[in-house]
Amino acid sequence: MFSTPFVLTFSLLLSLPILFFLAPRILPPKPHSLPISPSDELDDINLFNRAITLANSRASTASATNPSKFFHLSSKNPSLKIAFLFLTNTDLHFSPLWDLFFHDTPSNLFNIYIHADPSVNITRPLSPLFANKFIPSKRTFRASPTLISATRRLLATALLDDPANAYFALLSQHCVPLHSFTYTYHSLLVSPTFDSSDPESSRIGIRLKYKSFIEILSHAPRLWKRYSSRGRYALMPEVPFEKFRVGSQFFALTRRHALLVVKDRTLWRKFKIPCYRDDECYPEEHYFPTLLSMADPDGCTKYTLTRVNWTGTVNGHPYTYRPSEVSSELILRLRQSNNSESYLFARKFTPDCLEPLMRIAKSVIFKDGNL
Ligand SMILES: *[C@@H]1O[C@H](CO)[C@@H](O)[C@H](O)[C@H]1NC(C)=O
Ligand SMILES: *[C@@H]1O[C@H](CO)[C@@H](O)[C@H](O)[C@H]1NC(C)=O
Ligand SMILES: *[C@@H]1O[C@H](CO)[C@@H](O)[C@H](O)[C@H]1NC(C)=O
Repeated sequence: MFSTPFVLTFSLLLSLPILFFLAPRILPPKPHSLPISPSDELDDINLFNRAITLANSRASTASATNPSKFFHLSSKNPSLKIAFLFLTNTDLHFSPLWDLFFHDTPSNLFNIYIHADPSVNITRPLSPLFANKFIPSKRTFRASPTLISATRRLLATALLDDPANAYFALLSQHCVPLHSFTYTYHSLLVSPTFDSSDPESSRIGIRLKYKSFIEILSHAPRLWKRYSSRGRYALMPEVPFEKFRVGSQFFALTRRHALLVVKDRTLWRKFKIPCYRDDECYPEEHYFPTLLSMADPDGCTKYTLTRVNWTGTVNGHPYTYRPSEVSSELILRLRQSNNSESYLFARKFTPDCLEPLMRIAKSVIFKDGNL
């Protein structure tokens, strides 16, 4: 007969590996990133509320005095601006190229806003165009909802800053322009033929619709893994899997949609939940396309204007061009789009591509064909 203590010890020993094996299934897995702190969240809510209050008061004054003023987006309005929103966690390597892009452009056509991770020692660009455009920023982490927060901070700041901001183009330090400012402005705000998702405007010959240029895809590899990366039912009931979308982080939103994003509380409450694994967690690639496709699918082109090369992707990073690859042929190739007359921006380039890009800036990049 075995003595009781022996049986006890034996079964305890036996249960150890079982516990070890089962624990990850029984206990909830540990989220890989920290949740956003309540004080950061409060700062953001205050900023967003200011943007919403101002928009509401402008809407009521405008509709009381002159209803037509309420519709910012009209090609007859000469004071419409594009807000260029730079989201970065390093130096703005290509600021000299962007400087050239904005060179000689009247300041009543654009604004620049920069969100830079405050934990990184960033060398401020010397150009006055960029030097004082840094907005109050917070830390950002890859594969975490902090990138959504940073983008919403940029949108809210630009909404508050200037009622003439009509399009809000999100860019990163790795993005470069593919055309002149004039071409870019004309494409976004004037051309009736630029956007092929709007055949009506090209038929009539007048820009009728202003849509947000944001990629919205309903089918993509590993979409279910991305959907369930916070837990199988974490996004329910607000976002059933059929409504979950993916798209490039880089977009150009209309003012109406920028405000819609800043107003959102419902989806944010879900998308801010940290993921359990970072290799299937890119909240910024899901939050914006899902929110806009649920709220106003017809107001979106469902494609982006920022060219990216996903061939041979490594670690969730797209292909990064090196100096030896920069050529006029590359620029012409990167412009080619199936959805619009051209791509307007491209990424990613290594920082040392600045020199070869500057060399072909005037002769190729900023040289326009027929407008
Ligand atoms: C940031 O960079 C500047 C200039 O390169 C340097 O003088 C300063 O000590 C750096 N600060 C930190 C905290 O690394
Ligand atoms: C995309 O990247 C691949 C390498 O992964 C390269 O061979 C190809 O030429 C690139 N495409 C364009 C349009 O630059
Ligand atoms: C355009 O569509 C063709 C055919 O589907 C595809 O092979 C090509 O990669 C597309 N080009 C771009 C820039 O997406």
